Amino acid sequence: MNADLPQQPTPYHGVLHRYGHLLDLPEHTRPITLLEGDTHLIPVPRLAETLGGGFELFVKFEGLNPTGSFKDRGMTAAISEAVGRGAKAVICASTGNTAASAAAYAARAGLKAIVLIPQGKVAAGKLAGAVAYGAQVVQIDGSFDDALALVVEISNRHPIALVNSINPYRIEGQKTAAFEICDTLGRAPDWLCLPVGNAGNITAYWAGFRQYEALHGSGLPHILGVQAEGAAPLVLGHPVKHPETVATAIRIGKPARGEQALQAAEESQGRIIAVSDDEILAMQKRLAGEGIWVEPASAAGLAGLAHEIAAGRFHPQGKRIVAVCTGHGLKDPDIITKHMVAPQIFPPRLDVLEDVILRD
Ligand code: F0G
Repeated sequence: MNADLPQQPTPYHGVLHRYGHLLDLPEHTRPITLLEGDTHLIPVPRLAETLGGGFELFVKFEGLNPTGSFKDRGMTAAISEAVGRGAKAVICASTGNTAASAAAYAARAGLKAIVLIPQGKVAAGKLAGAVAYGAQVVQIDGSFDDALALVVEISNRHPIALVNSINPYRIEGQKTAAFEICDTLGRAPDWLCLPVGNAGNITAYWAGFRQYEALHGSGLPHILGVQAEGAAPLVLGHPVKHPETVATAIRIGKPARGEQALQAAEESQGRIIAVSDDEILAMQKRLAGEGIWVEPASAAGLAGLAHEIAAGRFHPQGKRIVAVCTGHGLKDPDIITKHMVAPQIFPPRLDVLEDVILRD
């Protein structure tokens, strides 16, 4: 072999191929993959410095998955199981990302996908994705929580597989993000911060870290779950009838796995807190300043960390912290363009452009 030639990279076949032996999936599961997972753990030392410094901070950028969000990890598992048992159609309720992911994996498997979305609150890139992948998109005059109750009912009455995160295989697939973090860092981080909506992801991370600790003694992180102030049932201790937040992905008033989220926070000696929309948008901007553009909900985890540090309730010094950024900024361009001043138009002349560019 010529030593100067780069070695063939190990082929990557997606999370079921890499971690399937650690996932509790039935025998009949037939892998359907878009090579999801293996997302980057990006060091952000400059951002850590602005938060007080003296600690290690990484962003697990889940927006790099095939449909632009972490949902693909759970969806490969849920759709693979559904196909294996002969399902012909799948259904989910969604604030957008689950819809796009379900639609893509259903398309890959040749299944019909039906997605129920709350009226007018789904970001353009997510809806476009669901349509592009060929799903039947049904908008209801109600909330995500209403939509979820309805799809549960429909899947009970008809042979249509439910692929929301109450489906246990979604959780199995999403555990792989915790495995990847431990494998990349060599052990679990001290803290993990992430946004919380329907609470599937926090449940999956905690299950994944616990499993790796039992297998490899990789340690356990404390978990900081973060909700938006206007949609914070787990912080308030009761459902929120009319959840409202700019972070539409986590605009959820009655999380299906709320109990498990509270348990994850308690068992990990972490907590669940709420941050304002302004804090979420400010963190979205700070992350973009690092070259990482995430959708608003995805900035909530880090916004929560900043919030706790500023309040003096959290001392990050000497710690290794991972913030999960759950979805790509391209999913929700409107949030940026809405406040953007349209670029001014100039004549295509060098002297004019030099004047504009070098003005200050
Ligand atoms: N971040 C993003 C970008 C999301 O889309 C979601 C959930 C979450 C965080 C919260 O994750 O629900 O597991 O606590 N989106 C769901 C959807 C509800 O329909 O796409 P969770």
